[in-house]
Amino acid sequence: MKQYKIGLLRGDGIGPEIVDSAVRVLEAVGKKYDISFAFTPYLIGGAAIDSCGEPLPKETIDGCLASDSVLLGAVGGPKWDTLPGHLRPEKALLGIRAAMGLFTNLRPAKLYPALKDECPLRADIVENGFDIMIVRELTGGIYFGERGYREGKYGEEAFDTEAYSRMEIERIARVAFETARKRRKKLTSIDKANVLETSRLWRKIVHEIAAEYPDVELSDMLVDNAAMQLVRNPSQFDVIVTSNMFGDILSDEASQITGSIGMLPSASLSGGSRGLYEPIHGSAPDIAGQNKANPIATILSAAMMLLYAFNETEASEAIVSAVDKVLSEGYRTADLARGGACALSTTEMTDKIIERL
Ligand code: IPM
Ligand code: MG
Repeated sequence: MKQYKIGLLRGDGIGPEIVDSAVRVLEAVGKKYDISFAFTPYLIGGAAIDSCGEPLPKETIDGCLASDSVLLGAVGGPKWDTLPGHLRPEKALLGIRAAMGLFTNLRPAKLYPALKDECPLRADIVENGFDIMIVRELTGGIYFGERGYREGKYGEEAFDTEAYSRMEIERIARVAFETARKRRKKLTSIDKANVLETSRLWRKIVHEIAAEYPDVELSDMLVDNAAMQLVRNPSQFDVIVTSNMFGDILSDEASQITGSIGMLPSASLSGGSRGLYEPIHGSAPDIAGQNKANPIATILSAAMMLLYAFNETEASEAIVSAVDKVLSEGYRTADLARGGACALSTTEMTDKIIERL
């Protein structure tokens, strides 16, 4: 029997609840497909600050580097919001992405037919559904640039810098072209080249790399237009490639048109064997500990892990189709239930999915 070592970063807010759901699903699917998992929890975010005074302890980094793969819930909450930048829970997330070299973030946003009515877009706009893969650069740009405080023209001033190197753009562009090649062969590169120098370099290099992929149709789009096109005509997109910050923002927008941000999984990849899998949503402190959160984004992240990290295609597909079934049967968590519809709890939704594996 195959055994995989998985690091668990439960984190804060709803993180522990949704990670526990995904673990139960992995264990259930593992029984069916003869795969076993050894889970080891590590502290991250606010939980780590509370217990050892720092958001990303060294044991966590070492543990994640030694794992076959890592599953993360979410970090952050009001309790830690007033800490200085380097001690904030979010810093741990950026830190673990950097430490593991996870420069690619895959964020698939597709409309489940069963969730058409939960989609906030008009029926005629989503008639043909949509299935978008956002390839977000994850370890560069303004998230990691030089920052600080200084005396400026008008007194106290803060600054953050966006920087992208040729190497960083080339490698994410290649991932995006490879991804497009395996799908509908359409790639939209999103930037702000009418204003930003980094975007002009980005555009130039993406076009250079395009020469290696003549079978993929490349187009450029400015980010403001992309924000609009996503709600005007989402089915025009296949693969999107964009910078760290634009990808952060556009993936939240894309998640909302799938019905709920509680639906979107993600895979953060290094180009080698390392990977971290997490829902794209945050820690939702307002509903933490209430057994109300939608576990689907984390469960689908676990499915992505089975596929990308372990090549366990059948087990991965079993999870995806169990989620599909539960949704088509009309089951909803609170974020998806409209009007007076009855909502399942986190654990009830998890049970329904496990029953259908
Ligand atoms: C995400 C989150 C993070 C990000 C935050 C929590 C640092 O919004 O994964 O999208 O901005 O990358
Ligand atoms: Mg985000």
